Amino acid sequence: MNWPDIYAKFKELFDGNPLMVRSPGRINLIGEHTDYNDGFVFPAAIDKEIVFAAAKNDKGLFRFYAKDLDASFELPVADLHVTGTAWANYLLGVVAQYQKRGYQISGIDCVFGGDIPVGAGMSSSAAIENGFAMAIKHLFNINVGKLEMIKMAQMAEHEYAGVLCGIMDQFASMQGRQSHAIKLDCRSLDFEYANIDMEHYAFVLCDTGVKHELASSEYNKRKSECEAGVRLLQKYNDGIKALRDVSLELIAAHRDEFDPVVLKRCSYVVSENMRVEQAFKALHQNDMETFGELMFASHRGLQHDYEVSCKELDFMVDLAKETTGVLGSRMMGGGFGGCTINLIRKEAIGEFEKTLKFAYKKFTGKEPEIYKVSIVNGTEVIEIKD
Ligand code: GLA
Repeated sequence: MNWPDIYAKFKELFDGNPLMVRSPGRINLIGEHTDYNDGFVFPAAIDKEIVFAAAKNDKGLFRFYAKDLDASFELPVADLHVTGTAWANYLLGVVAQYQKRGYQISGIDCVFGGDIPVGAGMSSSAAIENGFAMAIKHLFNINVGKLEMIKMAQMAEHEYAGVLCGIMDQFASMQGRQSHAIKLDCRSLDFEYANIDMEHYAFVLCDTGVKHELASSEYNKRKSECEAGVRLLQKYNDGIKALRDVSLELIAAHRDEFDPVVLKRCSYVVSENMRVEQAFKALHQNDMETFGELMFASHRGLQHDYEVSCKELDFMVDLAKETTGVLGSRMMGGGFGGCTINLIRKEAIGEFEKTLKFAYKKFTGKEPEIYKVSIVNGTEVIEIKD
């Protein structure tokens, strides 16, 4: 992302020398809809990012400019609330979290923009929340660590965007490390980096171009279906706090007591958690065939049991399955649109791209975007060197 454009726009609109921050989007190799079930995920930060230029003002105002939308927003600091401007709410939600922790936040001028496609499942919203949390930390000299900022960013999403998301996106964007994916335990928040600087393979994203509009209401519904499963099983073992604590055997033993939909949701989550562990091991053993098989299995679960896929995503995965050199493919993120993530032998990428573009265009009338992403470091202040 070209930070000088953001810097220049700030200089045009506001006074002073801004602090500059970059904040990346993320991919997720495997482990979907497991984070809010206290389970495991395997994401990484990518070279699609949002850049911020921000400075304090003494006008008692939040003044924001979203460069990609060419839209301005202004609100008195004293009147902080969820507004009708969706993009501004991500920033305001972060301010609210600092305030909840007792920090006095005064007026801020901010210009931001980037190249994370919105609604493509690469977590542009987490990147925005993290980036602004980092900017506020530095502007106001607040002693908060990364973990606290991750939690604030997640709560901003809950309280100001209405999505009861897990912690994966904010964690991956903040804690990203170049050439590494993060295997995260979403209960303990312990994590391990795994090198994915692969010589012969690459992860490639294919964007369906379908915006996941259904996502937030369906997302919250999935979460409550999982909770219903937990409540049922708690009757038999009060040590169960989340689906993380549940085995397929336990579900099988009580399957007749489940609502059929809840049964499918729970079976998916428990299986997906196991797949993350298996995929992590496979990566260590350089067994990419197994890794790819696990990705396909993840997709089938998301398609049939968790029911968060859509026909365009399924089409892309089915096609990938038939294509030489593709080891694995699955939908990525919340679902109902966005991208597939594909594990491909490097020499097969060109042919795959051609085949997919042609077939997808025939199927939908639209040319899909294909992204070859690199794995980068997480949210950070940009040092400007003249
Ligand atoms: C969205 C949420 C994440 C996670 C994924 C699904 O990206 O923000 O917390 O639940 O969906 O894995």
